[in-house]
This record gives sequence, C-alpha cells and structure tokens, in this order.
Amino acid sequence: MAEPTLDALLHESRRFEPPADLAAAANAQPALYDAGSVNRIAFWEEQARWLWWDQPWTTPLVWDPPYAQWFVGGRLNACVNAVDRHVVAGFGDKVAFHWVADAEATTRTITYGELQREVCKAANGLLSLGVEAGDRVAVYMPMIPETIFTILACARIGAPHNVVFCGFSADALRGRILDADARVVVTTDAQMRRGKSTPVKPAVDEAVAQCPDVRTVVVVRRTGEDVSWTEGRDVWWHDVVDTQLDTHQPEAFDAEHPLFMMYTSGTTARPKGILHTTGGYLTQVAATHRYVFDLKPDRDVYWCAADIGWITGHSYIVYGPLCNGATSLLYEGTPHPEDQDRWWKLIEKYKVTILYTAPTTIRTLMKWGHEILEPYDLSSLRVLGSVGEPINPEAWVWYRTYVGGGRTPVVDTWWQTETGAIMITPLPGVTATKPGAAMTPFPGISADVVDNDGKPVPDGGGGFLVLTEPWPSMLRGIWGDDTRYRETYWSRFDNVYFAGDGAKKDEDGDIWLLGRVDDVMNISGHRISTTEVEHALVGHPAVAEAAVVGATDPTTGQAIVAFVTPRGNVAEDESKGDAFVQALRAQVAKEIGPIAKPRQILVTPELPKTRSGKIMRRLLRDIAENRELGDVTTLLDPTVTDMIRTNLSESGGAGGDEA
Ligand code: PRX
Repeated sequence: MAEPTLDALLHESRRFEPPADLAAAANAQPALYDAGSVNRIAFWEEQARWLWWDQPWTTPLVWDPPYAQWFVGGRLNACVNAVDRHVVAGFGDKVAFHWVADAEATTRTITYGELQREVCKAANGLLSLGVEAGDRVAVYMPMIPETIFTILACARIGAPHNVVFCGFSADALRGRILDADARVVVTTDAQMRRGKSTPVKPAVDEAVAQCPDVRTVVVVRRTGEDVSWTEGRDVWWHDVVDTQLDTHQPEAFDAEHPLFMMYTSGTTARPKGILHTTGGYLTQVAATHRYVFDLKPDRDVYWCAADIGWITGHSYIVYGPLCNGATSLLYEGTPHPEDQDRWWKLIEKYKVTILYTAPTTIRTLMKWGHEILEPYDLSSLRVLGSVGEPINPEAWVWYRTYVGGGRTPVVDTWWQTETGAIMITPLPGVTATKPGAAMTPFPGISADVVDNDGKPVPDGGGGFLVLTEPWPSMLRGIWGDDTRYRETYWSRFDNVYFAGDGAKKDEDGDIWLLGRVDDVMNISGHRISTTEVEHALVGHPAVAEAAVVGATDPTTGQAIVAFVTPRGNVAEDESKGDAFVQALRAQVAKEIGPIAKPRQILVTPELPKTRSGKIMRRLLRDIAENRELGDVTTLLDPTVTDMIRTNLSESGGAGGDEA
C-alpha cells in the first residue's frame, strides 16, 4: 500500500489520540489534571516535595498582586538539587551529559560525580575571586561544559547568573552587564561554529572597556585562539578553577533567593532583565520536564537543542533535566546546509529518546528533505517537543511522520522567558494532540483567552492569552524597573498576567497560539523588538527615521523588514546603493547582534504616517507581505505608500539574505 502523503496526513489527521502503550506507562496520568484543578496550591506543594529542601516552607504562596512568593520560609540550594543529591543517592556514575563538540570534532562524557567535582571547583574559583551571594555574574559562553559548570557554580554560592547569548554583540553585552551591575564576566577565547574557530573574547573586551566596575574576566581556553589580554583583569579558567579543591560545602538559600536574570526584548529599545528565584522556579521546571517529556531518568537520553544562552537552555538543558537526574546530549553545533545529516547521526549514535527543538529548525530540516534522515535509525525517539514560536501544521506533521516515525507524540509547548517554565502543552500519554495547537494548560496552571475587555472568549473565539493565577516559576520582576514590570504585564487587565500573545480557543476549547500582539517580532524563535532594531538603525548617522516590521517568512517564522528614510544631506545615489544597505545591516549587527539583521531594508524618502504623526506600521506590514492595503483614510499622504511599493519592486526586494 502506498504511504499517505504529508498533505493527506495533514488534512485527514486533525487529532492524534495518546498511544495506548504510552498511556499505560506515562509519568502523567489523567488524575494529574484533577489534582491540579481541585487544589492548585496543594498540587504545586506536591511537586515541590520532589526537591531537596534543607528547611521546609511554612506557607506555599503569598500573593500580593502582582507580587508572588512561593514556598515561603523554605530553604534549599539549586545546585545541590541539580547535582549533589543524585551523587548522594548513588548515581555518581550516571551520565549527566554527553557533550559533543561542533561537527563531532571531540566528545566528553560527564557523569553526575564529575559534574559535582567540576562545579565545586568552579564555585571555589568564583569565591576566590571575591564573588559573594547576591553578586551578579555575567556569562558570555557557547555550548560547552564550562558554561554549565559556571551556571551551577553561581547557583551553588547564591550569585545570580546573567547569561548573555553569544550571538549578541559587544554593545548588547555591555548593556546587560551594566544593567545587572555584574562585576565578574566568564567567557571563552572563541567558539566553534561550522567547523571554524570564531572569536568570542574580543566582544567581551569591547563591552567591558566601558564597564568600569567589572574587575575580573575569566576566560576558558576553548579553541586556543590568540586573545588580547588585560593584566590584572583577565584570568584563565585553568588558573583560577582547575587549581581549586573539588569539594565545596553548599549553603541553603531562601526559596525566594534570586537564581538568575535573563534579558529579553520588550516593546522598547531597552531589553528587560527578567528575574527568577529559586524554589518555585526549580519546582516548575522539574515538574514540567518530568511530565511534558515523560522523562524516565533510567532509560531516556534527552536532547534539548536550544542554546544555553536563552531561557529554554536554562530551564530545559540545565535546571529541569538535572533536577530530574536525566542523561542529556549537549551539542555545540547548529544545523547547517553543509552538514545536513548531523542531527540524525547524533540521534542514532546516542539513541536519543526525547528531542526538544524550535519550529524554525524543524522547517529547515524539512526543507532539506526527509530523504536525508531515511538512512538513520531514529526508532529510539519516543517524544518530540517544539518551542519558541507557533508551529505550522505542516512542520508539526512532518516532525511526527518522519522524525517520529508516525508514532511519537509531539508536544507543542508554549511559554516565555517570563514564565520560566512550560505553561501550555499536551502531556504525552494523556492529552490528544492536534497539529499546530499547544492544547491545554499544564496541571496547576490557569490560562484563558480573553477579549479586549478582559472577558473570556467562548470556544471558537480568539483574543489575548492571559494567565489568571500565579504560578511557581513566574518572573519575580524586571531587574531595577518595578514600574515596567507592573505596566508591561499587569496593567492591560486587572490582576491577570498579559502575555503579549494572541490566541484562540477551538470548538473543543483547545488553545492555539497565534503570535505576538505587540511590537515584538519572533525571528527563528528569538524575540526581537521592532523598536530595538529601529533604535539601532537611527544610530547610523545617515538615517533620519526608521520603521521596522516582522513579515511572515516560510523558514524563520518572521523576518525583519526595515524601512529607512535617509537624512536630507545624504546624496540620493549614495542612499540607493547596496553599500548603504549593507552598512545599515552591519550597524544593527553591531548594536544588537547578527540575529537582528533585517532580511530586507528599503530606503524610502518618506514613511506613511497618520495625521498625528504616528508611523503606520500596519501598512508597512501589508507592504512587506505584499498584501492589499487596508484602511488608509487616516494616512497623511496616501501617495507615500505607492512610492514605497514602487521602490520595493525596483529594489527587487533586495537587502540581504543571511540573518
Ligand atoms: O510569542 C510566544 C512565542 O515566544 C514568546 C516567548 O519568547 P521567549 O521569551 O524568547 O521564550 C521562548 C522560549 C520559551 C512567546 O510570547 N512562543 C513560545 N513558545 C511558543 C510560542 N508561540 C507559539 N507556540 C509556542 N509553543
């Protein structure tokens, strides 16, 4: 019999029931939902008991909207929960990570016992540099084991880490170091990318040159790249860490002790330092990891292919899996066209059972064709996860059909840097799945879709996603900006959390996420604000004004399209040239990072504005996506849009390709 085509699968299979064999043995059983709804707080207390507490909490939740404290009075150490307790329980020889360098150039297997020793050395190293509980430590590191050692060492001594994704520029790093007031930065000489050593330290040097309070930069030797050195400030990891004792007596911290901050884009040019604390965060990342991926620590090999520099890496490479005693694959590389079968080789070789990645990656692998994966045995896979952006049904069905061999549940998990952990997701073995739907809130989570007035929409309706009750891993604030915390999340509707996402409930009441409703774009699962990119563009001396929109893109979900008006003193032929567009793209890469480079930049003498002077982004979005223009009655000068359209077709949509 001929195999059904992807198209047929997509149109016939709107719903996949949980496989019976999985349902019988799954960590999550239907009663979990009942427990979460009968008594939400008792449910979370039950989850918190999976952790090791030096001192139990006295009150599970103090909710003084919009401020939550979870497990009040409890004391614990995050690193002990992630590492030491597994060693104490006799699992010191169990593998925590199979680290695989870029293009499999080298590998390293790290057991829980070794992880404990490495983390103790790193903790002693940080202490020897004068780092104390409460001090922020900036981490600008690629996907190497030392990044995990550093994060856990910070947690062990109570120093909140501030990890900055290595793809961010020196300017972006500087902003995050200064905002967090970090005095110590941990980095590497270079990282491996596509088989090549790519320098990392120069960005730190440039950033730190204007951070007078940074006293120490710790440098891991990753590739042996030559680096410039500032005596008295720069120290090698092998001098500071490798020379330390491999034991360290941990201290218990308050459940609300800050664990880390993670900067993310909002609707203004300045990123927000999202603050997470210890007890509630660990409770929810561990519980969600256990149930959403059906993690069985004694037999699973789990692979979260995100970067540690984002929240997914924090929650589902580091804290969640380690708290559950998982064995993980940690891969330094990213998929690229000259290495199309690497992922499938790795899954076969390490017998990966659970894979967690982003729709952009799935679409890229899909573009390369399922023939690439056919020679490989992927039968070890049993759960597939997706995160970071809405997953289109085609990619979902492809993922399940070809990667999952038509057997595996696909869990589309919705959450955010701010939520700290997964919030809306199916549970394998319990929840049916539908291609493209995140389905239903995790047990103990209250979410809804509301209209403009904050009223829940009926099934079949669309609106804004809100979270109606506090949850353990919720952000505790924005570092140094309480007003922004209240305004961004809690002012749109009374005492409910506004996520900034559009959503709909289908006829069965299942939730589908529809993308951002604010000026935040989602490029390959990375959050970038339009204002941030506009700010970078107007930083160029030849730019008078810039407007940025996210346009639909078949691979990256959204792509950045910028409209730029040059200053009057810039000659027309100069501003029309490709060199000008390239200079602008370079400017964005410098201020933010290569991930924020616009796919397309259109130079235009004017931008469409309302009579009150507001740029009409909606029109620009329509132009960028080549749609019929909607209502233009409020437009000051209707000829402007025609002019932009003409320029766009003349430029042939030029402006750049690689993001
Ligand atoms: O718009 C939603 C989208 O990503 C945003 C959060 O981005 P960030 O804080 O960088 O965290 C990404 C990893 C958790 C959300 O506001 N998003 C995330 N997951 C999904 C999603 N959109 C649709 N479906 C998802 N599963």
